[in-house]
Amino acid sequence: MAVFSRIAGTGSALPAKVLTNKDLEQFVETSDEWIASRTGIRQRHVASEGETTADLAERAARAALAAAGVEPSELDMIVLGTTTPDLIFPSTACLVQHRLGANGCAAFDVNAACSGFLYALSVGDSFIRAGNARTVLVIGAETLTRMLDWSDRNTCVLFGDGAGAVVLKADAEAGILSTHLHADGGKKELLYNPVGVSVGFKPEEKNAGVRVLMTGNEVFKHAVKALDSVVDETLAANGLDKSDLDWLIPHQANLRIIEATAKRLEMSMDRVIVTVDKHGNTSAGSVPLALDEAVRSGKVQRGQLLLLEAFGGGFTWGSALIRY
Ligand code: ACO
Repeated sequence: MAVFSRIAGTGSALPAKVLTNKDLEQFVETSDEWIASRTGIRQRHVASEGETTADLAERAARAALAAAGVEPSELDMIVLGTTTPDLIFPSTACLVQHRLGANGCAAFDVNAACSGFLYALSVGDSFIRAGNARTVLVIGAETLTRMLDWSDRNTCVLFGDGAGAVVLKADAEAGILSTHLHADGGKKELLYNPVGVSVGFKPEEKNAGVRVLMTGNEVFKHAVKALDSVVDETLAANGLDKSDLDWLIPHQANLRIIEATAKRLEMSMDRVIVTVDKHGNTSAGSVPLALDEAVRSGKVQRGQLLLLEAFGGGFTWGSALIRY
C-alpha cells in the first residue's frame, strides 16, 4: 500500500524584539512610506544578542511536536532549512536534536536560502514515501539580520528573524500531494553573500564582510516568472485547477510578488496568507511561520488544499501542494 506524509502539527517562533520601519528611519535614509509601498513590510522581529537560529528552531519544533502529540524520541529524522546556521558545523539540526533529546535519529541542514523550508519539506516527504522514515521534523529557521549591513538601505529594510516547523507522519492518505524543486546557479551575482569558509572571510577588505548583496529589481522579475511557472507545474502535475485551491501560503519577501502569484492563480487576497507586514522576509522561516499562523488562527482547516511556494538565493525555488 502506498505511503504518504501528512502534516500532524505546526509550530513557530519569533524573537521578542520588534524593529519598525520608523525605527529604521533613525539610522538609515529610508521611510515607512517607501518600505511599505514597495514591499508591504511594516515591521520585523530581530534576534537579541546571543539569541540564535537554533534557539528559534527549538521553540518552533517544540510547538510543532506538542501540536502533533509526538515525542522527540519518536522522530526518525530532523531536516532543517537555513542559510544562517549557528555554527559552520555541527549542523543546526544536530544542535536542535540534542536539545530536544532526540539523539540517534538522522539530523542535517539544507541550504536553499529562502526556499530552504520547501527543500527540507520535500526531503522529509521523500523519505517517508520511500518507507525510510515514519516521523520527520521539518524546520525552517533563520537569523538573517545577523548578516545584514545596517547601513545598506537596499537590503537592511527587507529581512527579519524567525522559525517555523512541521511534524510529518506516515499515513495511508496524502497529505503532501507533490513537491517541486528547481534551481538556477547561473544567477548568483543577483543575490548572494560573498564570503565563506573556502573563499575566505576577507576581513581586511572594507565592506567585504558577511552581508547580503542583491540587485532587487532583477530578483523581483526572476521571482515572479519562476513562481508563475512552478504554480502552473504543480497544478498540472496533480490534474487540478486553480479554482480547487483553498489557500496560497507564499514565501513572504514582498507583497507585490505575492500579489502577482495570486493574480496568476485568480485568487483573491483573502485566500492568501500574508505575514510579510509583521515579519519581513525571514527566508527559510517564512513559509512555515505563515502556515503556523494560518493554522492557529483557524483560517486553514483540515481537508483544505494548500499551495506553498518560495523563491530565493541560488536561485532556488519550489512548491508543495498539500491536503492539510
Ligand atoms: N528606502 C528608500 N529608498 C530606497 C530604499 C530604501 N530602503 N532602497 C532602495 N531605495 C531607492 C534606490 O536607491 C533607488 O533610487 P534611485 O532610483 O535614485 O537609484 C530607488 O529606491 C528604486 O530602487 P529599485 O531597486 O528600483 O526599487 P524596487 O521598486 O525594485 O524595490 C525591492 C526594491 C523592494 C528590493 C524590490 O526590488 C524587491 O522586493 N525585490 C525582490 C527581493 C526579494 O524577493 N528577495 C528574495 C530573496 S532574498 C533571499 O533569498 C535571502
